[in-house]
Amino acid sequence: MAFDREPVGAGVWRVSTPLRRDEALVGAAQVELSLDELAHLKRRLRLIDAAILVCSTLLISVALAFFLERRVGRPVAVLVAGMQRAESGELGVRVAAARGGEFAFVAGTFNRMLSRIEELTAGLESRVRRATRDLAEKNRELQQANERLWQAQLEVGRSGRLAALGQMAATIAHELGTPLNSVLGYTQLLQRESWPADEREKLAIIESQVQRMIETMRSVLDRTRDRELERAPVALAPLVTEALTMVSSRLAGRDLALENRVPLDLPTVPADAAALRQVLLNLLTNAIDATEPPGTITVRAAVLSQNGRPAPSLELTVSDTGHGMAPEELRRAVEPFYTTKAPGRGTGLGLAIVDHIVRAHGGQLEVESERGHGTSVHVRLPMEAS
Ligand SMILES: Nc1ncnc2c1ncn2[C@@H]1O[C@H](COP(=O)(O)OP(=O)(O)O)[C@@H](O)[C@H]1O
Ligand SMILES: [Mg+2]
Repeated sequence: MAFDREPVGAGVWRVSTPLRRDEALVGAAQVELSLDELAHLKRRLRLIDAAILVCSTLLISVALAFFLERRVGRPVAVLVAGMQRAESGELGVRVAAARGGEFAFVAGTFNRMLSRIEELTAGLESRVRRATRDLAEKNRELQQANERLWQAQLEVGRSGRLAALGQMAATIAHELGTPLNSVLGYTQLLQRESWPADEREKLAIIESQVQRMIETMRSVLDRTRDRELERAPVALAPLVTEALTMVSSRLAGRDLALENRVPLDLPTVPADAAALRQVLLNLLTNAIDATEPPGTITVRAAVLSQNGRPAPSLELTVSDTGHGMAPEELRRAVEPFYTTKAPGRGTGLGLAIVDHIVRAHGGQLEVESERGHGTSVHVRLPMEAS
């Protein structure tokens, strides 16, 4: 079939074709096409296309967002929350693993990492605790060593001064003793000659005074010289009674009570009785000097059996209700030549000598005192000679 096409006006096409039956022309068919309408149709189709594109993009975006929120957003939020809690020190926290996939793997790894950190932290803490304990122990040992060093230094100082005093006394005794002895000798020679009664009397006075000087020097020497201790079993009760009787003469008229609380059945202690008497006399003298009447001075004694110590020791205590000592005085009390007494009243040697004697017996001296509340001096002596 043949078509004739020809444009009829703008945008309109006319298509016509002859109609034949048995080769004979019976008519013609003609169609007019408007291109405008076609263009209009095309525009509508493009619009519909665009609408479908926008809708499907929106739909896909929403679906993707929903999917991402469920499969990525939530697990990440759970992980981040877990990390934040772990960061704030909550190491026991664990994140719930998502169902399979990368996040389940990440969550599992995170949980295992936290467990490991927890283990390490616990180990570290216990090591730090142990190290701190060790450090404290070492510190204590250091303090004790320091204390011992300080005591040793003090003792060296004390014994040094005592030794110096002994030497000084010996030198003075020697230097003065020789001329004094010759004065005594010449005086005695002179006495053999015949003198008027008057002169004889003067010579006798010179002789007795020189004798007295020699005696005094000997007794000073005796007191300062480090003589060997002669140990024998000593019963404390009678020794204390004797010492109390000796000092009671100093109390004449003063309202001071001397109390002897030493049990009579106390076991004996291996000691040098004369040295112990000197200890008691020095301590009692100090107590009397420190106590304004009315007051009480008490002597006690008891056996101390210390745990972990094989041999028990005996403790002798002299307490007073006197003025006591300030901390600085207490710290220095045992130092040789330390005295708070008026010149001529104290030598500062009493406690140093007591300390020296007690140590020579293998014992210890402890002074307890508080200003205004009296003083207690404890002497501890081992009950088995070392
Ligand atoms: N019982 C005590 N009460 C108070 N102070 C004391 C006592 N015993 C000792 N002291 C103090 O210790 C110092 C030293 O004592 P000590 O060595 O006996 O020397 P002294 O008696 O010659 O002063 C004393 O001067 C005194 O200050
Ligand atoms: Mg004294």
